[in-house]
Amino acid sequence: MDTFDAIKSRRSIKSFKNHEMTEDEINQLLEAAILSPTSYNIQNWRFVIVTEQKLKDRISELSYGQRQVAEASLVIVLCADLKAWDRNPERYWKNVPEESRNYLVSGIRQAYSGNETLEKEQAIRSCGIAAQTIMLAAKSMGYDSCPMEGFDYGKVGNLINLPDDHIVTMMIVVGKAAKEAAPRGGQIPLSDVVFENSF
Ligand SMILES: Cc1cc2nc3c(=O)[nH]c(=O)nc-3n(C[C@H](O)[C@H](O)[C@H](O)COP(=O)(O)O)c2cc1C
Repeated sequence: MDTFDAIKSRRSIKSFKNHEMTEDEINQLLEAAILSPTSYNIQNWRFVIVTEQKLKDRISELSYGQRQVAEASLVIVLCADLKAWDRNPERYWKNVPEESRNYLVSGIRQAYSGNETLEKEQAIRSCGIAAQTIMLAAKSMGYDSCPMEGFDYGKVGNLINLPDDHIVTMMIVVGKAAKEAAPRGGQIPLSDVVFENSF
C-alpha cells in the first residue's frame, strides 16, 4: 500500500472481527516497529505483545471496559526502558568504526547521566514514533488499529510484570475492523497549526 494511502485510511477502530493473526504477521509488524528512529539509536522501546484471550479480557476491564481491547487480534503494550541508554550502549553502534562508536557512546552517557527528565521524554518520543510505524504497517498489511491511553497504567503495568526502571507509554490494539470508524471528528486547517519561520 502506498504510504499516503496508509496515512489517509488509518483510523481508530473500536470494534474488531474475531480473527487470529499469524506469528509471521506479528513478527512482520514488530520488525517494522524496530526500524523506527530513536535518539542516538538507543532503541528504548519495549513491546509487550498480548495474544492470550484471558489477558486481553483483563486488559479490556482495566481499560474501563473498552471492547476493542478484548476483540483485537493483538494488543501491544508499548513500554520503554528508561535505562536503555546505559545498558551496553556499544551495541547500538556495533556496525560503525570503533572511534565513531566511542564518540557516540560518550555522547549518550553525557546526555543521559543524571537526567531523568530526558529519560522519560525520550521514552514518550520513541514510543510515539514507533506507535505510528505500527499503525501504518498494520494498515499496509490489511489490518486496522487503535492507539490507546484510556487504561489503568499501574494495573496494566503490574499485569505485565513491568520492571521498576521501565514505563508503560501507551497501547495499540490491532485487528480486522468489524465496523468502520465514524467520520473524522473534524480536522482543523493547516493555517491553525502551521507557522512559517516563527509563531
Ligand atoms: C495517545 C492516544 C491515546 C488514545 N486513546 C484512546 C483510547 O483510549 N480509546 C479510544 O477509543 N481511542 C483512543 N485514541 C484515539 C483517538 O480518539 C483518535 O486518534 C482521534 O479521535 C482521531 O481519530 P482517528 O485516529 O480515527 O483519525 C487515542 C489516540 C491517541 C493518539
